[in-house]
Order: sequence, then C-alpha cells, then structure tokens
Amino acid sequence: MTCLKGPVIAPSLLSAPPLAIGEAIESLKGETDWLHLDIMDGRFVPNLSYGPELVRSLRSTWAGAVLDVHLMVESPERFIGAFASAGADYVTIHVEATHHLHRALEMIRNEGCRPGVTLNPGTPVEWLKPVLHMVELVLVMSVNPGFGGQAFIPETLEKTRSLARWRVAGNLAYLIEMDGGLGPDTVPDAVCAGTDILVAGSAVFGSKHPADMVKALKKRALEAIRD
Ligand code: DX5
Ligand code: ZN
Repeated sequence: MTCLKGPVIAPSLLSAPPLAIGEAIESLKGETDWLHLDIMDGRFVPNLSYGPELVRSLRSTWAGAVLDVHLMVESPERFIGAFASAGADYVTIHVEATHHLHRALEMIRNEGCRPGVTLNPGTPVEWLKPVLHMVELVLVMSVNPGFGGQAFIPETLEKTRSLARWRVAGNLAYLIEMDGGLGPDTVPDAVCAGTDILVAGSAVFGSKHPADMVKALKKRALEAIRD
C-alpha cells in the first residue's frame, strides 16, 4: 500500500497542451509526482484520448512518477495488459464497464499494477462494497466522465464520506481519490470528506503557472484539514 504524507494533487493530462505535454509535465516536477491519465474509447464515454504509448514514454522519461491510469473504456480487460506493460502504477476501472469486475481487478494485480475501482456520479457507492478488500484506490467521479472543465457535483461527497467510514470500519487501506471539477473552491470539501488524491485538470493546466497552482491546491487542502 502507498503511504502518503498528506493530500496529493494528481494533475490530469487531459487538459495539458497536446503539443507541449512534455514541457507541461517537466514544469510540475518538484510539486507532485502523480500524473493522472484519462483513457477514453469513444464508447464508454463520448470522447477519445490517448493509449498506452503515452504511458510508455512518460515512464521512460520519468521513472519515479506515479502513473495513475483511469480507464474509461468498455470491457477494460482488453487493455489492462497493454497499460501494465507500458508502465502504469495504478490501473482504475469502472464498475459500469465490465461484467466481471472481480476478475478484471485480479487481472490488474496479476499484471503487477495496483488495482483501482471507480464509478459514475449516478452509480450507487454500495456497488463497490464486494471488491473494496481487493483494491488500493477508489476513485469517486465528481463529474460525468468524458471531458475536462465540468462543474463539480457536490452530491458525490457523500460517497467519499461513506468510503472513508468503510475504510476504518473494515480496517482497509485503499486511497480515496476524487476526479472532476476540483479547484481552489472545491478542494476543501473534497479533503474534508476524506479524499487523499485530488485529480485536477483544467484548474492546473488552465493556469498560467501549473506548478504554482499545484502548490496552491495542496496548501488549500492542508489548511482545510487543519481547520
Ligand atoms: C473526466 C476525467 C478527468 C478530467 C478532470 O472524464 O476523468 O480526469 O480530466 O478534469 P477537470 O479537473 O477539468 O474537471
Ligand atoms: Zn480521470
């Protein structure tokens, strides 16, 4: 299990400038080593993004990065091996995207990655209960997946609170991550609900100085927990 020293900001590369993604990532070094990669197939979500080759080049240029791969694809079993051999650390799959969630999570572990599970805003969090003991990360989608720049859905905070309670009650150790609509105004509620990993796309890459924004979000998160 990963041991964190405090809330972590995971910039989502979906919002990074496509022709300058290398420079954008380089500028973040020192502020965070987590990178969130949104993989979209045009079926599970109405959008397309990138594939394992981006993960492979990130791994070869930044050995110590934590590559957090969020698969928004139908039947993710088809791609787990490819992302594992490309160098993913966490591979997170949607409960809605497979008929065989348990098997797919085992596959992620067997491929040498850390298994993660996630769910859309309209899916009950109870659906995750049977697999919580198998995962190292639970991702709560706080927007409908597919696009950056959407507004945070506050009702999803209740799912995060439940997951934080269940973690203690079950003596479990998964990290809780939230993804979508996170920025200076929403990060405090997310961390107070129990979020460990805060994914931020447009807030980070829409800012003039992405590294400064990562720093500012981290500060907001720490202040919110201390208050
Ligand atoms: C949405 C993706 C998110 C997205 C977040 O489908 O899973 O990771 O990039 O973007 P923002 O932070 O702009 O909401
Ligand atoms: Zn994501």
